[in-house]
Amino acid sequence: MITRELLTPLIRETFALRNKVVMAPMNRRRATDGIPDASMITYYKQRAGAGLIITDNTAIASNGGAYLHTPGIYNEAQKAAWKKIVDTVHAEGGKIVIQLVHAGRIGHPAIQHNEPLIAPSAIKVNESILTPDGTYQPMTEPRALSREEIPYWIAKYKEAALNAIEVGFDGVEIHAAHGFLIDEFLNPYSNKRTDDYGGSIENRSRFLLEVVHAVADAIGKDKTGIRLSPFREIYDIKPYPEELATHEYVVDELQKAGIWYLHFSNAVVNGIGTIQEDYLRNVRARFTNTIMVAGGYTAESGEVLLQLKLVDLIAFGKLYISNPDLVERLRQNAPLAEWDEKTFYHGGESGYIDYPSLS
Ligand SMILES: Cc1cc2nc3c(=O)[nH]c(=O)nc-3n(C[C@H](O)[C@H](O)[C@H](O)COP(=O)(O)O)c2cc1C
Repeated sequence: MITRELLTPLIRETFALRNKVVMAPMNRRRATDGIPDASMITYYKQRAGAGLIITDNTAIASNGGAYLHTPGIYNEAQKAAWKKIVDTVHAEGGKIVIQLVHAGRIGHPAIQHNEPLIAPSAIKVNESILTPDGTYQPMTEPRALSREEIPYWIAKYKEAALNAIEVGFDGVEIHAAHGFLIDEFLNPYSNKRTDDYGGSIENRSRFLLEVVHAVADAIGKDKTGIRLSPFREIYDIKPYPEELATHEYVVDELQKAGIWYLHFSNAVVNGIGTIQEDYLRNVRARFTNTIMVAGGYTAESGEVLLQLKLVDLIAFGKLYISNPDLVERLRQNAPLAEWDEKTFYHGGESGYIDYPSLS
């Protein structure tokens, strides 16, 4: 196994990571009332050998988490629980950022404290979701945000980011991928607005960029990362003719904003990734700071991208579920354990903190 780049540090003026292995964000749904369960302390401690951990997607508001048992970072009890996690990871010498999400039209009022779903436009997603009574219910039609209330929701991202920094996170990752609220503004299938937040590339990108600026101004651009999933079909988000141009515009604007990192979420469909080398070359030419990819990579395929200098960091999801000491296993060329999908989102401590380390 060639892991020359992957296992060496990434050191820049504003940050230092001890290797280029990132734990991808995974909502394992082990929170109660938005408060991370105690098992999450152990879970992240076990995985602190990563160069960087990105947490579960974490709601910025009480109606912001799509799924049952999603953690939040909008109240004091949630902050206190996260602080224990952050302190533990730091005590292990690790680094950790929090992924901030508003799920927009994904979810159900029964999950979101009986509040209606919100979205750029009142277009529902034709899928069902697990609700508190144990049944799958169709997602409901979201309420379209009025022009006047948009600043309120941008401020929610900023408040959550400030909360994250207050409890000691090394930064935040703005979740602008996977068909959640920010992605819903970007995509013309979910955004039919006729005001300055819909229509043109600039208008559809406005919400994303205003969130980024609000967060970066509040906590520092060097602590602000973002996850994007261009060319990916998910939750009725579909490909559209101006998709490449939209994402080029977004990347150019994020370059001007000077934020810490771009994180691209790759989906492999029929053997073909949504994030191709050509696209990464395009992004590399536009964005001078840190670039990360996740989605279907192995140590070997990640190493190739690092050696081509197309990206700076590789994030691993499922491998991190079943290999808490992934970095150590790669160093020793040790076998990697298989994950069990049945416990991805359920099962309490089982399938969560009981995957063994080598030692
Ligand atoms: C159990 C599980 C939960 C996930 N939760 C999130 C999430 O909260 N936020 C996110 O952006 N992606 C999430 N993802 C996607 C992962 O970050 C990653 O992109 C995906 O697993 C593909 O990478 P892999 O092939 O290395 O697993 C999740 C994936 C899994 C398996």
